[in-house]
Amino acid sequence: MSKLLIKGGRVIDPAAGLDGIRDVLLESGKVKEIGVRVKGQGARVIEAKGMLVFPGLIDMHVHLRDPGRPDKETIASGSRAAALGGFTTICCMANTEPPIDNPAAVEYIIAKARTEAAVNVLPIAAVTKGLRGEELAEIGRCRMEGAVAFSDDGHPIMRADMMRRALEYTRQFDVPVIAHCEDTGLSAGGTMNEGAVSTEIGLPGIPSLSEEIMVARDVLLAREYGRVHIAHVSCARSVKFIRDARREGASVTCETCPHYFTLTEDAVRHYDPNTKVNPPLRTKADRQAIIRGLRDGTIEVIATDHAPHTVDDKNVEFNQAANGLVGLETALGLVLTELVGKKALTLKEAVAKLTANPARILRLAGKGTLRPGADADLIVVDPRQTWQVDPRQFASKSRNTPFTGWTLKGKVIHTIVGGKQIVRDGQFA
Ligand code: DOR
Repeated sequence: MSKLLIKGGRVIDPAAGLDGIRDVLLESGKVKEIGVRVKGQGARVIEAKGMLVFPGLIDMHVHLRDPGRPDKETIASGSRAAALGGFTTICCMANTEPPIDNPAAVEYIIAKARTEAAVNVLPIAAVTKGLRGEELAEIGRCRMEGAVAFSDDGHPIMRADMMRRALEYTRQFDVPVIAHCEDTGLSAGGTMNEGAVSTEIGLPGIPSLSEEIMVARDVLLAREYGRVHIAHVSCARSVKFIRDARREGASVTCETCPHYFTLTEDAVRHYDPNTKVNPPLRTKADRQAIIRGLRDGTIEVIATDHAPHTVDDKNVEFNQAANGLVGLETALGLVLTELVGKKALTLKEAVAKLTANPARILRLAGKGTLRPGADADLIVVDPRQTWQVDPRQFASKSRNTPFTGWTLKGKVIHTIVGGKQIVRDGQFA
């Protein structure tokens, strides 16, 4: 396989504690050498002076809609969106039609990804059969087939005993259960955050308690039974519960998504269905608490919860619209502009939440770092370029973003997956 030398960029590799100007040599799908001056005889050279060089980003929360809804997204289209957004590894959620709740379905995703994916695609399998929360799925066999985590995302596991059994069982495989925390009794009928804004604009509310109560339950269960990763954390008290539980030694990690540190319930005032997401956009205080949780390390992961939906499913009355927004092509820009640009996080902290931390939580050997021997997954980003979010240009099949027209800083120039250049000069190679 050909050699690639990425020359003179500012390499940020949090897993290796590195932030400095380096050359990176890729050979045979692996990182071969990294140093101040690397020769790389016969290698094709990518000039990266003035650019940022990161390990390829990892998104541990993506909906690819295969099987079932190829009109919303496919493995091909979703992984292309990922590559343009700087993600070289994406983990796809199990709430497809039918769900990924058995070994054959896991095998299907892996086989399909091998032929059509532009980036690494790793399946997350369901915790319970049919995502119904009543009976454990074939967790052991799904793990053998290659599932990297287990989640009923989109649906909470309402029964605590079921969650307990899932944790006890997954513990032996050293994989986390990714918890969608929502008490469906409390959230029933709601379509936005419950509070002053929902009252004012007349939409039925989802109290933050619906999330908090389940986060509280799951961090308690994690103290006793196994490893929990809390998905899409949206509110202040969830951050507090997770922080306290971790201090007391519970095996709890968590993620938030760009929309929870950039937007609040105020964005819903115009009834734009692209602001409808589950959990809903919360208050200013919640948003600030999310940013504090990112800063102090309670929230170790930024994931997109990329949730593609068709125009038909979105362009309806707010209460009827599907939940979710696409995130793969805007996430890095939002992180660089809103967190790093506003000094909430250092560049190294931000990159860790998109690379080293998800790799560690999912035990992805050879990923999330540029240490010699690691997989040759890498991106080159121009920190000076600004760009405008234009959903018409998305590689995703869906366009449901609330960030249309936003000006973001930091453009993905090159994306390299396993030593192969997938994106070159911001376009598919
Ligand atoms: O907004 C959401 N959309 N939240 C979820 O938990 C599921 C997701 C989806 O699958 O569309």
